[in-house]
Amino acid sequence: MRIETLAAHAGHAVDPTTGAVTPPIHLSTTFERERDLSYREGHVYARTSNPTRQLLERSLAELEGGASAIAFSSGLAATSATFQVLAPGDHVIAPADAYYGTLKLLREVFGPWGLEADACDMSDLAAVERLLRPNTKILWVETPSNPLLRIVDIAALAGLAHRVGARCVVDNTWATPVLQRPLDLGADLVMHSTTKYLGGHSDLVGGALVSRADDDFTAKLRALQGLGGAIPSPFDCWLLLRGIRSLPWRMRGHCANAAAVARFLARHPAIEAVHFPGLPTHPAHDIAARQMSDFGGMLSIQVRGGEAAAIALTNRLTLFTRATSLGGPESLIEHRASVEGPTTISPPNLLRVSVGLENAEDLIEDLERALG
Ligand SMILES: Cc1ncc(COP(=O)(O)O)c(C=O)c1O
Repeated sequence: MRIETLAAHAGHAVDPTTGAVTPPIHLSTTFERERDLSYREGHVYARTSNPTRQLLERSLAELEGGASAIAFSSGLAATSATFQVLAPGDHVIAPADAYYGTLKLLREVFGPWGLEADACDMSDLAAVERLLRPNTKILWVETPSNPLLRIVDIAALAGLAHRVGARCVVDNTWATPVLQRPLDLGADLVMHSTTKYLGGHSDLVGGALVSRADDDFTAKLRALQGLGGAIPSPFDCWLLLRGIRSLPWRMRGHCANAAAVARFLARHPAIEAVHFPGLPTHPAHDIAARQMSDFGGMLSIQVRGGEAAAIALTNRLTLFTRATSLGGPESLIEHRASVEGPTTISPPNLLRVSVGLENAEDLIEDLERALG
């Protein structure tokens, strides 16, 4: 089945007891036990499982083509659970330009706990190979990356990870399963901040892990979901189920708008650089064209005149809201270096743009006016 059909139907079977076409939100925290001590549908207590969350997890697994999915209360909770499966002394390799929260988590939480981590530019496969060790357990991949929109080769990196028995985990937040299916490219686990495109309306925080196989690692992740307790609320699960139904069509709009905005900005003399994998000038455009079905709704720009000029530009725009996050219907613009703080690798004149679902011509006119 194709992704539009999967998204429209996943997790949305007609409710057999009421005939409701849209699933109910199950708020109950506890479930009746039968006289023989069993549970009717296997649900015992809502931290360990809940019918609405179960529908969401089935839907996420179907979208990514995985064996199972595990939902969390945020993207970083999902990332944390992945590292918590490891033991002190294990080694992780992450991209030097990974989402800054992922790197901060490794440095400030898992470093003191005994996890060893290295970061490198993963477009340099030889550099990754040099960092591989017998105790490397996870190769963390993020493509497109945040905020420089770097693209790396998932299949090649999964191959390197498997050479030392490590797992290849892909943060697929920016691409979504509509544009990129890492498990089909050889990855073992996909991580999502469902806060972004999957939710799609800037109104929930969530995360998920989708695994290729129902193996020991997945069982440990499932146990961490219940024992760690970082679970999404039934209402957030329901909002996500609703958001997912329109995901493929929303992504078409985001991709078309971002491509139009990127083409406009690439020609503008006030813009020093446009980072967007859909532009033929992007250094890894060919890899993006091979492993993605389209180039996504995110781009970043470097503004001539440095940091002050970049910030001034955000203040002249009217259709781009100055705010962090991404993946909603409204366009957002963000001065990334000042959000990330002293450890940032974002250039000071860089603005990250989440291109929304407005009319692209309106967005371009707003930019044209603000750029002067
Ligand atoms: C690529 C990426 N991964 C992970 C996260 C973290 O997700 P959350 O904010 O849902 O914890 C973000 C958030 O911006 C992100 O952009």
